[in-house]
Amino acid sequence: MDQLLDLLIFLIPIYVANSSPVVLGGGMPLDFGLKLPDGKRLLGDGKTIRGFIGGTLAGTVAGGIAAMIYPLPFFATPTLQFYAAFVLAFGTLLGDATGSFIKRRFGVGSGKPFFLDTITFLIVALLLVYPLVSLSLYDPLNLAFFVVLTLIIHPLTNFLANRAGLKNVPW
Ligand code: CTP
Ligand code: MG
Repeated sequence: MDQLLDLLIFLIPIYVANSSPVVLGGGMPLDFGLKLPDGKRLLGDGKTIRGFIGGTLAGTVAGGIAAMIYPLPFFATPTLQFYAAFVLAFGTLLGDATGSFIKRRFGVGSGKPFFLDTITFLIVALLLVYPLVSLSLYDPLNLAFFVVLTLIIHPLTNFLANRAGLKNVPW
């Protein structure tokens, strides 16, 4: 049970970073409207500068507070856990933007559902934090838990954000 709690606490910066841009975002798109030679946007209007910075900050603060209250066994020191909060939050937004880049190349419009939506952000966050964590984090059972929980939580929060009027579409 303790281990399960460790995994949930570890996910805090990722989930906060991924869910907060819907509230914090808006304004100038991250790609400044740039179109690639394929005629599609680099990232699209769904990825904004404010959302990227706001999401990274929110995830860092949430994970930073968690680091002060609850030291995780995956980190050699609480300081490393604190740095990791930033890396995980930033990785989440980077992965989210990477997902949009891939979607646009496949001709999928902004806001349309895509099978990678639920998972790109998690993959990039977990890759970026590699230098800061102990290898035990990447235990296949842990990874399976991360993936399954994210596949459940992501659609659920999108549905709730839609019902709360924060998002136009329920995905
Ligand atoms: N958002 C933002 N900036 C970001 C990420 C998200 O402003 N870097 C906001 C946008 O208002 C976006 C909403 O959060 O519409 C939901 O995010 P997401 O589902 O990731 O974007 P989509 O609109 O679905 O766009 P895409 O198809 O590119 O994923
Ligand atoms: Mg979306």
